[in-house]
Amino acid sequence: MNKVTILSLFPESFEFLKTYGVIGKAIENGLLELEFVNIRDFSNDKHNHVDDTVYGGAAGMLIKPYVLYRALMSVKKPGSKVAFMSATGSLLNQKLAIDFAEIKDLIIICGHYEGIDARITNHYVDYEISIGDYVLTGGEIPAMVLIDSMARFIDGVVGKEESLVTDSHYNILLQQDEYTKPRVFNGYFVPNELTSGNHKKIKQWNRKSAIEKTKRVRADLYEKFLREENKNGFN
Ligand SMILES: C[S@@+](CC[C@H](N)C(=O)[O-])C[C@H]1O[C@@H](n2cnc3c(N)ncnc32)[C@H](O)[C@@H]1O
Repeated sequence: MNKVTILSLFPESFEFLKTYGVIGKAIENGLLELEFVNIRDFSNDKHNHVDDTVYGGAAGMLIKPYVLYRALMSVKKPGSKVAFMSATGSLLNQKLAIDFAEIKDLIIICGHYEGIDARITNHYVDYEISIGDYVLTGGEIPAMVLIDSMARFIDGVVGKEESLVTDSHYNILLQQDEYTKPRVFNGYFVPNELTSGNHKKIKQWNRKSAIEKTKRVRADLYEKFLREENKNGFN
């Protein structure tokens, strides 16, 4: 069982994640537990304020350190790991998602406004994670992305009929083009190789399609693929 505790000013925004498809099932089946902590509950200000201005005169407001610290300490245990969703973090990728699935007690901090006090990030956070090179209004959607991507790697969450190892990004290449019935759709045919019943041909076609797709849309991954191929002496 993996437990993820989410510290947020808007815990109600996770309703969708809790109840939909694969993640909802994982919770129902006891493979994943989500707990929510409203950061605002830890304000000791009579107006329930949680934010304050930035030293040095920078624009916007930050979540105050004592409020967030109290929220964090209310759930942190000796084995807990703490992740802060942040545009200044390491970019989330499939490898990190797999690593996060190994953490049994994960606490995720969702920032808001201009973010959080750097003393929390620097002294109480184990991982600072970004979901991409752009800035969102809050850490809730990034936290959902992290939870969804890691939960797929918790044992039993993804059924045997769905293969994680043939997905895009498991290895370097993107997934090949895939087709379902009917064989002809609006005059467009499924490639003959895929309907040939010849496993060797199908495998070769899938690999060629994956390489072509990666080359077309992700030059960076394609370069990486070529470097790995050269290293392994296949070229
Ligand atoms: C408006 S943003 C703050 C951006 C911050 N001032 C900066 O320039 O990095 C508010 C919160 O949204 C979340 N956030 C925004 N973009 C993100 C991203 N790309 N990945 C992860 N979290 C992000 C973080 O929790 C952040 O504290």
